[in-house]
Amino acid sequence: MTRPPVTFREVLDRFHRPLESLRVSVTDRCNLRCHYCMPEEHYVWLPRRSILDYEELARLAAVFAGFGVEKVRITGGEPLLRRDLSQLVALLRADARLTDVALTTNGLLLPLHAADLASAGLNRLTVSLDTLRAERYRDLTGRARLQDALAGIDAVLAAGFRGTKLNTVVMRGVNDDELIDLLEFGRAKDLEVRFIEYMDVGGATRWSPHDVVSRSEILEIVRRHYGSVEPAEESADARAPADRFLLPDGSTFGVIASTTAPFCRSCGRSRLTADGMWYLCLYADDGVDLKALLRGGASDADIAAAIREAWERRTDRGAEQRLDRGDRGPLYRLQGLREDPHREMHTRGG
Ligand code: GTP
Ligand code: 5AD
Ligand code: SF4
Repeated sequence: MTRPPVTFREVLDRFHRPLESLRVSVTDRCNLRCHYCMPEEHYVWLPRRSILDYEELARLAAVFAGFGVEKVRITGGEPLLRRDLSQLVALLRADARLTDVALTTNGLLLPLHAADLASAGLNRLTVSLDTLRAERYRDLTGRARLQDALAGIDAVLAAGFRGTKLNTVVMRGVNDDELIDLLEFGRAKDLEVRFIEYMDVGGATRWSPHDVVSRSEILEIVRRHYGSVEPAEESADARAPADRFLLPDGSTFGVIASTTAPFCRSCGRSRLTADGMWYLCLYADDGVDLKALLRGGASDADIAAAIREAWERRTDRGAEQRLDRGDRGPLYRLQGLREDPHREMHTRGG
């Protein structure tokens, strides 16, 4: 499929934030049931016929590229549950403007797919891993599959990927005693570990402020063990959300403080769901129905006009608004999530 690249005038939102990176959730399904994201066994799934195929997703991504978007992160649910995901990677990479195509995965299926993803031109990978202990992994994810996740990480290394990141959501009394073990694991495998503050996103129905281990607490734990932790010099490609830190031996790690120190001010990210809804903020209640345009016969210029109009009206700063609340609890209760599954983090892309 070759399509001549079309460019559109740059677009800024009400706070002068450019449209920068796109997260594409390719499926709302997942093969784990992480406590902080999908604590229930059963969910209301997006209807299969509404799921965009790879050509449709790539066409939308090309329209975004026309606005200067260079970075696409494929997420889910668990994106590797979509058949032949490498085909989507290849379609995206065929657009020379999309120079950074990344994947966030729980890693379980990487032993099967890492080599194909590398051949298709995937630039970067992030693997989510919250514990190195088998029993704890089972308790936290609902599945006894730590060995598959570890095999997935080895497959990434074997396939030749560099700069792979490990995402760890830190929860009080759950895995906050494993930060050093995870850093040592990252060091041994040449992965950059990022500790993520537990967020009150849709899906985190059991969230409580008490369970959040803040950036300053995380740094204190690490400092206590290693003696010193210094802010790392920012590399040219460093962008939100992670603050990066340096250990005495020169290795680095990141902290994503989305709960206690949000980065909304500089946020140029938006997210597309597997059924073509476009959300301008992780916390937004409503999105723009790009599937309706796409399947209704709209041209790329029509779709671009809808994107421009929505982005120019954007005032979202969801995480900052959450921080301003005194009585912070879960964003949604289960009933609210069932009413609109698009509110789920696993639908709109973790
Ligand atoms: P790169 O910038 O491409 O390295 O990726 P990333 O760090 O955005 O990707 P990743 O999927 O690893 O996301 C890491 C964490 O950042 C998520 O678990 C969230 O906690 C947080 N995060 C991601 N996107 C958003 C967002 O849109 N808003 C907020 N507030 N937090 C986000
Ligand atoms: N808080 C913080 N991070 C979360 N993720 C999913 N739910 C939450 C939450 N409640 C993370 C996953 C994954 C990333 C894509 O999103 O751990 O690393
Ligand atoms: Fe961006 Fe919304 Fe996340 Fe803030 S909460 S960083 S505005 S997506």
